[in-house]
Amino acid sequence: MSAHRSLVAIGDLSRDEITHVLELSDRFAEVMGRDIKKVPTLRGRTIINLFFEASTRTATSFELAGKRLSADVINVKASGSSVEKGETLKDTVLTLSAYQPDVIVIRHAAAGAVASATRYTEAAVINAGDGKHEHPTQALLDLYTLRKVMGKIEGLHVAFVGDVLHSRVARSGAIALQMMGAKVSFIAPPTLLPRGAAEGLGVHVSHDIADIADADVVYALRMQHERMGKGGFVPSLREYATQYGIGHQRLRPGQRVMHAGPINRGVEITDQLADDPAALITTQVEGGMVVRMAVLYDLLSDPKVQRGAHDVSAMVAA
Ligand code: CP
Repeated sequence: MSAHRSLVAIGDLSRDEITHVLELSDRFAEVMGRDIKKVPTLRGRTIINLFFEASTRTATSFELAGKRLSADVINVKASGSSVEKGETLKDTVLTLSAYQPDVIVIRHAAAGAVASATRYTEAAVINAGDGKHEHPTQALLDLYTLRKVMGKIEGLHVAFVGDVLHSRVARSGAIALQMMGAKVSFIAPPTLLPRGAAEGLGVHVSHDIADIADADVVYALRMQHERMGKGGFVPSLREYATQYGIGHQRLRPGQRVMHAGPINRGVEITDQLADDPAALITTQVEGGMVVRMAVLYDLLSDPKVQRGAHDVSAMVAA
């Protein structure tokens, strides 16, 4: 069992703890503005990034975050590891834990895999995305982006559009946004909406794309082909793009657009909109690194130190 606190689901954090992570992220963003973008905060700590599923943004930002905090960072991908020889998640985690890491960051295609990994290690475990279940650090970086660009989270209306059924981004995002006082809608074809979303998550649910008009932020979701099996969720991608794809013609002035990436240009978002300043896609990526620095720092802080009472000046000293 992990001896440290882990971050498996966004609900592991309270509203105050989320606010604390966002404030820490601001401090690390200051560090990223310096010539030397490295602080000794986690010197002597070891972070293992264990990715069983493809990733560009999450994997690179966790690696950079660890390195900029001066931790020793080891990256293990399923491809090229003993997973290819049939090693189980349990044995992989037990094996890597023998090196006494402080944190293991795990991405896995199976919902629940990261929670089960916490049983086999004393390291803190961070969920970097488990199947269609949760992606808590994506939710945190989305909150960070909204706070930075919109100046607030409370009172905003964010509409997630598209493949909600397979989306860990929408699930963690909806929970986090509502915790911080935002309104959340899910807008999708009936086949791509999880049953019971309205009651289970407390979000507004609609099949009508015109309902994005009420939102401050339209969050386009990727069509997750890798979780669709033989498909049949939409008649064709072309038809889906026509009915639910987000482009300039569907937006009103002032609306902003988010996407966790990777994007399918021409499917859930038009090519032109993806490159427009109204789209916050690269701002989200930029925020991902400082938020992950904050999460790593927060989980590894001395538990005897009261949360929120850290000496932040010492933490960001070069
Ligand atoms: N948003 C996100 O999780 O991207 P990656 O799959 O590239 O990590």
